Amino acid sequence: MGQGPVYFDNGATSWPKPEGVYGAAEQYLRTGGANPGRSAHARSLASERLLYESRERIAMFLGARKTEEIVYTLNATDSLNMAIKGVLEAGDHVVYSPFEHNSVLRPLYSLRESGMITTTMLSGKGGDVVNADEFDRAIRPDTKLLLCTHASNITGRIMPVQAIAAVAASRGVLFLLDAAQTAGAIPLNLQEIGADMAAFTGHKSLLGPPGVGMLYLREGVSIKPWREGGTGSRSDEEKQPSFMPDYLEAGTMNTPGIAGLNEGLKYINDTGVETIRNHELKLCQKLLSGLEQIPGIKIFRGSSLENYVAVVSFVMEGMDSGELGFILEEGYGILCRTGLHCAPQAHRSIGTFPGGTVRFSLGCFNTEQEVDHALQALSEIAARL
Ligand SMILES: Cc1ncc(COP(=O)(O)O)c(C=O)c1O
Repeated sequence: MGQGPVYFDNGATSWPKPEGVYGAAEQYLRTGGANPGRSAHARSLASERLLYESRERIAMFLGARKTEEIVYTLNATDSLNMAIKGVLEAGDHVVYSPFEHNSVLRPLYSLRESGMITTTMLSGKGGDVVNADEFDRAIRPDTKLLLCTHASNITGRIMPVQAIAAVAASRGVLFLLDAAQTAGAIPLNLQEIGADMAAFTGHKSLLGPPGVGMLYLREGVSIKPWREGGTGSRSDEEKQPSFMPDYLEAGTMNTPGIAGLNEGLKYINDTGVETIRNHELKLCQKLLSGLEQIPGIKIFRGSSLENYVAVVSFVMEGMDSGELGFILEEGYGILCRTGLHCAPQAHRSIGTFPGGTVRFSLGCFNTEQEVDHALQALSEIAARL
């Protein structure tokens, strides 16, 4: 095991980052620094090129049809708010899974409370997964939008999003995918999935710094911008430019963050998503078989490895999850996340509300020795109970 803590909180944000990520953000701040697309001088043009190159890399990586279908945002929360508040109008109905993050639940709540929309949350009776038929059955004449996370941030369960997108297409409604937990962690192709809109965050498995996200908007899907202002284009007009991505990208972008994300993507492309996935699955397998041997540990996950991302939630009988997280950090240098993980309905579905779980979320830089260390720590803690 290396120096420093064992970082098992990659589902919240990945750490460490590939070396190039630190270097690119620093280099931009020290030697670039200019506002992209605003001025005609060399540094501004170089910043603009960086934004374009990174957008192209992202579009290719995610399987978008066109570069302009990718809009830079702050994070997945920003992207989800933009999509939800940008498409919904008075009288619309939305169907969503119980495994959604608060970045979906809260915007829907506020629109519902204001009387603008109605919603249906699926029952979650199918265990840790929702199926496309449930979405189909919940669609009404006033339904505008189906919404589902690609993988639960609590159980790690990958949802059948391609089938849900097919239901949306056949019923003439939109499908918004929350890919915060999957982009960079599993192979993902937007055209194959068939989503109309998708939310991404740069700082988790895409290995970029915090502060950059992306919204994918399939060409032809129209939304209202929730932010308008300077774009460096059509500056003589008071009206927001109607072409993408300027239509949705007012204000100065997080260029150092995008420079870092660009390097995160290069690292993933060079390593290969499949290689990263296989490494994480191997660690998960080791972790799961070790956890099963420890008395009092209950794991909230099915038996198949392939249907899950590298997120493992568990509780230890007789110990509060928050307390267990504290002991893991204080006694063993293991950093993880405990509690409700911003997804209370998901915890209700798996029966762990309100206490929550301990969540180990593994990343591409974790090692087998770190998993061994965590298993040893948990065995010792369990033996003291
Ligand atoms: C499934 C899911 N959606 C959305 C988000 C929000 O991501 P961000 O905090 O980057 O906006 C998260 C973050 O944990 C998540 O796990």
